[in-house]
Amino acid sequence: MNFNPIELIPEETARIVAKERKVNRFVRRLDALLEKAHLGGRKGRYDDINFEFMGGTNDRLRKLHYDKSLRLLWKAEEQIPWSSFKDCTRDEKMLLGLANESLKTAERTQLEKIKSDEFKAMLDREYTSEQKQAIVNILSTIGHGEAYAWMVSTEVLSSAVEGTGARAALTMQVMEEAKHFVVLRELIRAFDCPVPRMSIWEYLVMERTLKAKGLEKFYGMNVLIEGFALNLFGLLCALPGLEILSLFHLDESRHTALPSNYFADKPMTPRQSKGVLPKLRRLLITAPALPLMTYFERDFAVLGLDIYEFAGSMFRKVVHLSERVGFALPIPGHKLLELVNADFNKRAERSRRNYVPKQYHLAETTRGSAELAIEAEVFELDQPSAIAS
Ligand SMILES: [Fe+2]
Ligand SMILES: [Fe+2]
Repeated sequence: MNFNPIELIPEETARIVAKERKVNRFVRRLDALLEKAHLGGRKGRYDDINFEFMGGTNDRLRKLHYDKSLRLLWKAEEQIPWSSFKDCTRDEKMLLGLANESLKTAERTQLEKIKSDEFKAMLDREYTSEQKQAIVNILSTIGHGEAYAWMVSTEVLSSAVEGTGARAALTMQVMEEAKHFVVLRELIRAFDCPVPRMSIWEYLVMERTLKAKGLEKFYGMNVLIEGFALNLFGLLCALPGLEILSLFHLDESRHTALPSNYFADKPMTPRQSKGVLPKLRRLLITAPALPLMTYFERDFAVLGLDIYEFAGSMFRKVVHLSERVGFALPIPGHKLLELVNADFNKRAERSRRNYVPKQYHLAETTRGSAELAIEAEVFELDQPSAIAS
């Protein structure tokens, strides 16, 4: 594809990579030592080097149980149409009158498509190998993130929320995160490029969220990580071959909407919402997301995308959502966004040949009118603004 690559200063890119390697070695060795000494260490039972959970692929088990469960998943609306359930899609409702065997979800159709050689040939036509590797680097961040989302949402379900409705919602989220992980892996592998390990900055966000207690886990998962995933799917679903990501985008929008629906029924106490310690914990979970953005500058640049426009767009929505649902941050949202914007400009000035100051926190990188409309509803945003230079 004909992207307009952003020209970076190679020495600065090399410095960013070298720094990540150094911190990566330190954190992973420290976690390994702590684990040996039974003092904690890495909590996630996930092997990001092999893009696999500990214990192996278990493909047979996946096909026998997970695939089969999805295949046999019944809809209450179909079985008991008189009930209050509305769980059939429009297509399913339309097809209900037809033969049951012809039932096919959009996801299943797309999944068959991405496995085909035709799909791989299309990727080779559309992208250079450098562009394919950049897409895999970015998508695998979300792939590893989905693995953690699966683990974290399981814990949120068992320890952070109360009530039947909330548990039912979280149960669906666990199922959807599992689906995201396995489907994304197929999609990423179709690119035939090496899949990188997690960057240490992502590792820190994910591990801190997984180790967080109670509602802070809910913040890390359903506000920060979901906000990140939602924005990334909203950006990438416009690229050839990645259209399936708009279905992921739809799922993630439900996950980001969960805190506001949950707290409408069960409001936080003032201490849970505005306490000094919860605010600091949220900051600690969020902080590694800043160097994480810088780490992906090169991959975004290859695709003609400005990482800080994406990051500004994402942080604006995440901060807005966080405050709206009552997860206060140590600094008021509008001030925090100005600080983040100044930091992004400083980072961009160091790494770009043709640096132009921008109001990154006003950027909007989600493409597609359907995706923009979904986000406007979830985040209660005004109509998206074009980036101000
Ligand atoms: Fe997900
Ligand atoms: Fe999600």
